Amino acid sequence: MKRILFIFLAAWFVFSIVLGVFYFPTGKSGSTSGEMSVLDAIYTRTSIRSYTDKAVEPEKIEQILRAGMSAPTARNQQPWAFVVIDDKSIMTQLADSLPYAKMLASAPVAIVVCGDLSKAIEGEGATYWIQDASAATENILLAAHGLGLGAVWTGAYPVMDRVRAIRDVLGLPPHIIPLNVIPMGYPDNVPAPKDKWKPENIRKNNWANAY
Ligand SMILES: Cc1cc2nc3c(=O)[nH]c(=O)nc-3n(C[C@H](O)[C@H](O)[C@H](O)COP(=O)(O)O)c2cc1C
Repeated sequence: MKRILFIFLAAWFVFSIVLGVFYFPTGKSGSTSGEMSVLDAIYTRTSIRSYTDKAVEPEKIEQILRAGMSAPTARNQQPWAFVVIDDKSIMTQLADSLPYAKMLASAPVAIVVCGDLSKAIEGEGATYWIQDASAATENILLAAHGLGLGAVWTGAYPVMDRVRAIRDVLGLPPHIIPLNVIPMGYPDNVPAPKDKWKPENIRKNNWANAY
């Protein structure tokens, strides 16, 4: 009997490893079956600007924010803040004041990715917050896509009219700088991802050598 149990457990172990379907009860692992691989998510992500009315589950928003905060940052400063918006009237006010973010009016939710200058590096690395918040933004876009949502990066900083408009609507203090606004929701239509592969953009070992 013990032998049968041992064989069964060993077979289950091998089966689990082969399929990569170990269950992680924290719910934070991305390795449960049915989820997109990292490369699939990267290659198939595209900007989504129209959404259905379906609400986005709060658990998904949290997973997306976790993905944002998992990004690398210079000296691990994490010089960011995220404003989640699901209030229709605020969404409409933002849509009205941002010329290239009109899709906000029909998005169920948006995340504003901000730099927090009180946490930024001083001196020469002072503007690393932009790269840090950009890395968080890309993680957010990929996580949204991986969870079946559509999203688009709409730029704010360094366009100061947009920064001021967002600051006014959201009541941001002076040390919080909005880098972008990311409307998101379940996609209404999904355009084909653009093929951006251009080997001519790559050099090998020295600028003189094509790839
Ligand atoms: C810094 C930045 C600012 C952007 N601003 C806007 C914007 O204001 N409105 C918009 O609709 N899309 C905006 N986009 C999205 C780009 O238009 C989009 O990423 C680009 O056309 C490539 O398409 P893809 O995301 O589908 O690959 C922005 C993207 C970046 C990285």
